[in-house]
Amino acid sequence: MSRKTPHPSRPTPHEPVPVLTLDGPSGSGKGTVGLRLASRLGWHFLDSGALYRLLALRAAQSGTSIKDTAGLSRLAETMDIAFEPQPEASLRILLDGQEVGEAIRTEDNGRRASLVAALPEVRRALLKKQHSLRQPPGLVADGRDMGTIVFPDAILKIYLTASTEIRAERRYKQLMEKGFDVNLRRLLDEIRERDARDTERGVSPLKPARDAWILDTSTLSISEVADRIYGRLQQKWPQAGRPKKGPDKREV
Ligand code: DC
Repeated sequence: MSRKTPHPSRPTPHEPVPVLTLDGPSGSGKGTVGLRLASRLGWHFLDSGALYRLLALRAAQSGTSIKDTAGLSRLAETMDIAFEPQPEASLRILLDGQEVGEAIRTEDNGRRASLVAALPEVRRALLKKQHSLRQPPGLVADGRDMGTIVFPDAILKIYLTASTEIRAERRYKQLMEKGFDVNLRRLLDEIRERDARDTERGVSPLKPARDAWILDTSTLSISEVADRIYGRLQQKWPQAGRPKKGPDKREV
């Protein structure tokens, strides 16, 4: 009788689902790099920043104050969110069935997201949603505390960084391409302000995990960064690779 061999890229039932974490400040390239890696590996993708942005949007829509932590936690637990991976390494984000990818990316909503992300009750309420995305064959998780708090047992932890000026320029180009009216000086100030809030907050501050690989992307292209991380992942997890079928749409 022949023994059934498990799929090479799928963990056996006793192995935890592998997670690759990508943490770092905004503009370090983690979103684009993470989506590319998830698509190459056929793994799920968690954009945890989008969860905070979605909550900020939902709060604004429902008139929930940033000071109402109980109300925000309730919203966090009941939001109906779906992430749909698209071709060309992009992600369709739905809130209660409505596409909100553009609405959550405005600077104003980003500022509100940074405020709600500083609340311990909100972080606790969103933890379950983040863990629910850990599904076979694997997960690429992008955020600020993926390697330190949410997935401390990740098989590979990456911390991406880049100079503030380079990050502001990247964000400037991104927003201009999308037709937003932006001012580079103002963007630079906002990035500095958000970095300070994200790194100095008491709960889950932005910082590299002790066992993270720190990669400065200031002079690297997206492809170079993705290739380096992919190479390192294969050293740690040789069975990592594209399965026959990629992950389906995830409801969280
Ligand atoms: O990555 P982003 O710019 O979309 O994140 C939006 C905000 O959410 C940003 O201020 C940092 C915060 N955030 C967080 O506190 N923890 C995460 N895991 C992801 C994002």
